Amino acid sequence: MQVLKDRTALVVGAAGGIGAAIATAFVAEGARVVLADHDGDRAAATARSVGAVGAVRVDITEEASVAAAVADAEARLGGGIDILVNSAGILTEAPVAEMSLATWAQTLAVDLTGVFLCCRAVLPGMTARGSGRIINIASQLGIKGGTGLAHYSAAKAGVIGFTKSLALEAAPHGILVNAIAPGPVETPMVDGITEEWKDAKRAELPLGRFGRPEEIAPTAVLLASDPGGNLYTGQTLGPNSGDVMP
Ligand SMILES: NC(=O)c1ccc[n+]([C@@H]2O[C@H](COP(=O)([O-])OP(=O)(O)OC[C@H]3O[C@@H](n4cnc5c(N)ncnc54)[C@H](O)[C@@H]3O)[C@@H](O)[C@H]2O)c1
Repeated sequence: MQVLKDRTALVVGAAGGIGAAIATAFVAEGARVVLADHDGDRAAATARSVGAVGAVRVDITEEASVAAAVADAEARLGGGIDILVNSAGILTEAPVAEMSLATWAQTLAVDLTGVFLCCRAVLPGMTARGSGRIINIASQLGIKGGTGLAHYSAAKAGVIGFTKSLALEAAPHGILVNAIAPGPVETPMVDGITEEWKDAKRAELPLGRFGRPEEIAPTAVLLASDPGGNLYTGQTLGPNSGDVMP
């Protein structure tokens, strides 16, 4: 049985490892999916390879770009967006004492403000239909923090707080809003990190290994599904190899 049969979804950050895996899983579960990403070509190639409805280019730090992408996605889907996934993100490393304001501001712009802009853009349609699911990809670093990662951790903690607040506001309209806070996952985002750091990190993890994107996607399917996801709102689910046990 396909648990998302005929539901419509917009997956933002879908050219990336986790976003592409979620888009792929949603299509496999019967959803009609539009992929969105700053890298429009890669999003389009992924959309073709998984049999999605299509792809749109978006810069989630730009209000007008988000509004245009949501309108374009709705047109391609021939109606409203039932499910929004926010998986776009950037990660850089810098200790606070050496962090430029530009680095801080860019991380907050993509990893936190971008989530706000995408959520805000789909709310009118979901509110009008009296239903919707929003899934924000946070990080376990938003719960535990990380050396050299204060900007990223602050943004991800912000996503978790934003998710809870929006869940409260949206519940009367039948819209459920949740976050997923993965632990380390093998994607292009962690490609730049040294093998030495990764080995040390693996040794810390109770499960002893990083996750794979296809091990995160089923949590998004659960949160989007009916009845599986019906009682989750304002929650942060942690497929994180045991890195954080809240
Ligand atoms: N990989 C991990 O270990 C890990 C762990 C916890 C959380 N996360 C989070 O998961 C999400 C997905 O990360 P990933 O590992 O798939 O990384 P990724 O780098 O593979 O994908 C991120 C995607 O976001 C897109 N993007 C970046 N800036 C954008 C912008 N301004 N507008 C639109 N798209 C933009 C990129 O083009 C890319 O396709 C991110 O929010 C990340 O912070 C990742």
